[in-house]
Amino acid sequence: NFLFESGYEAGKKILATSATAVFSSNNLMLLGFLKAMKTLDKDIEIDYLIVGAGLTGLHTAYMLSKENKQTIVIESDKVGYGSSGRNTGKITSSHGLIYENISKKYGKEKARLYYEANEDGLKLIKDIVKKYDIDCNFENLPNYIFTEDEDYLNQLKNEYKICEKLQIPYEYLNRIEDFPLDIKGALKLDNQAQFNSKKYMDSLAKVISEKGVEIYENTPVVGLEKHKDFYIVKTRNDKTIKAKSVVIASSNIWHDELGLYFTKEQAYRSYLTVSKLNKPIAKGMFINIEKPSKTVRTYTDGDKSYLVCGGFDHKTGKCDNENDIFNDIVEFAKNNFKIGTLEYKWSTQDYITTDNIPYIGHISKDEPDIYIATGFCKWGISTSAVAGIVITDLILNNKSKYQELFDPSRTGSYLNLNYLKENTIMAYDYIKGKIKKGSMELNIQKEEGKVVVIDGDKYGAYRDKNGKLFVVDITCTHLGCELKFNSFEKSWDCPCHGSRFNYDGSILNGPALKPLKLIGIGDNDIDPDLV
Ligand code: FES
Repeated sequence: NFLFESGYEAGKKILATSATAVFSSNNLMLLGFLKAMKTLDKDIEIDYLIVGAGLTGLHTAYMLSKENKQTIVIESDKVGYGSSGRNTGKITSSHGLIYENISKKYGKEKARLYYEANEDGLKLIKDIVKKYDIDCNFENLPNYIFTEDEDYLNQLKNEYKICEKLQIPYEYLNRIEDFPLDIKGALKLDNQAQFNSKKYMDSLAKVISEKGVEIYENTPVVGLEKHKDFYIVKTRNDKTIKAKSVVIASSNIWHDELGLYFTKEQAYRSYLTVSKLNKPIAKGMFINIEKPSKTVRTYTDGDKSYLVCGGFDHKTGKCDNENDIFNDIVEFAKNNFKIGTLEYKWSTQDYITTDNIPYIGHISKDEPDIYIATGFCKWGISTSAVAGIVITDLILNNKSKYQELFDPSRTGSYLNLNYLKENTIMAYDYIKGKIKKGSMELNIQKEEGKVVVIDGDKYGAYRDKNGKLFVVDITCTHLGCELKFNSFEKSWDCPCHGSRFNYDGSILNGPALKPLKLIGIGDNDIDPDLV
């Protein structure tokens, strides 16, 4: 795996792209088009501004472009470089034990609507792939949710019973043929799908560009001004976009407008590995319902077969050694499947809402022309298409069949025990971070990061592969929690609301909007005035 071995920068590049994207040289065909994407270098006026060129942004732009709506998309990085390009590529309405959960909280009608919404999302993606003949390793497959633990059988059976009533066509199985885990029970949903999300996004970006939607990459947003009938969005390179409506289609909710989204969703990190698969397994997508979470699927590229395996999620900023998690995943895969060499690995960040239903719609009742789509609860592919459908309906018709289900302002969704518990944990993390402790010297190896104490205060220090030292203030610029080092991504991660910063202090994930204060670069270059 030369790309990983060529060092952190190349590794980061792969990580920032879908690992599945690098499987195929077919992507090279699109490279010419993607290289042509420019950074916004002028002030611009538009009806609809979409911020974020991941699956949500592209699906929304696609739906609006079908109606000939004047739309542009801006992206802080490159098309599909966030969570949309770092996933398992599963497109399904089978989201674990979701239907019993929704039925209990909001009733059977809402649970059925959730299914219909995700089936609509799946259909939209299928239609796009077919209509534009997109080469993205798309396969119609069943999705399985399973348990290896007898104690979880009742939950699985309850889910099945509820789904029978909702006419969701699950099949109950006691075993899965050609799937080498010790399954105690499983639910199978046919006519779901998997694909290579990065290849799909690259083609979809080309489709919408040809429909007249301009996409600007490397154009991060730094602020939004409200005016009577329009918004002015400012970019980091001092350009402005005047827009009637703004769709926040990025995982960073960079404009909150007192929706307090950072208190209503939790950031989690998950891990995926790709190994050569030497013995075929059942065709399908598989995920368990117990902890640790385990997700499995196969990927075929030409005559090569791979096993995509991972999960093992944890709250962001709550892991002592991310590399150990990869070792656990590889161990699990080796013990259960006939695999060869480990080819790729990556991690990703997802946001989980307190009721496990995404927030899609108006950012708040007072701001009907700003739309958000967030909290996809690890099911971001079908949900991104749902978001495109719902937001476009709200923009065009001021209503959607699914509006109430996904309403970001719904009450009852966060005023529950889970909400109180999570916010208590955040308060604990905040206070814990203020208690001083840490290493007393700057004895840091190459590619190591740790908390150090300088003149009685704590800082984050990281030494890159060339020996250069980076020291940053590890007080999160969002609300001041103390950051924790992520040994795999070489980032500083916040345990409170999931913001993440590169070792040089630049932002990787919000809700933080400001980079960390860089105290110094180099052993002899710590700025005493900043310390
Ligand atoms: Fe809120 Fe860090 S993300 S304090």
